[in-house]
Amino acid sequence: MDFESYIRDIEDFPKPGVMFKDITPLLKDPLALTKACDALMKSLNGLKIDKVVGVDSRGFIFAPMLAAKLDAGFIPVRKKGKLPYETISESYELEYGTDVLEMHTDAIQKGDRVLVHDDVLATGGTASAVCKLVEQLGGEVIQCNFLIQLTFLKGADKLNGYPIESLLKY
Ligand code: PRP
Ligand code: MG
Repeated sequence: MDFESYIRDIEDFPKPGVMFKDITPLLKDPLALTKACDALMKSLNGLKIDKVVGVDSRGFIFAPMLAAKLDAGFIPVRKKGKLPYETISESYELEYGTDVLEMHTDAIQKGDRVLVHDDVLATGGTASAVCKLVEQLGGEVIQCNFLIQLTFLKGADKLNGYPIESLLKY
């Protein structure tokens, strides 16, 4: 499927000079939504996964769908102050500022095989912080997957050593 035709470019969002990749046209289309999920599944090539970690907030769209298909659990990584139980945290640099990501201390068991999912890989700051959270709890990152990889921001360099898959590269 031509997923690119379901991605809408929004100029100067969220600030001047940024071209935002809007995935809502893809989400709105039942066939594109299913096919995107199927394509992410296919790139896992049958690998066994225990937990799918999704990143607040746009990573929460596909991560639970993938978890259900993989017969795995879904783990939310959230921005600071949103999780109710005991947490571990990692600060990270974002394309537009810095922030802190948190995960519940009981989210991952030692030895869990983990898929990290987010909508977009840009500078890689977010995803690499999530991988650190997973590893703090003794999980093994099996793959990081994304709908969109903005290759010119070199996020893959920050995820050196982790297998990366994305549906679309720009
Ligand atoms: C966006 C995007 C990724 C992250 C990628 O999230 O959804 O999570 O930036 O950037 P990076 O690779 O440079 O770290 P954002 O924090 O803007 O918030 P949202 O998902 O809540 O919209
Ligand atoms: Mg995000």
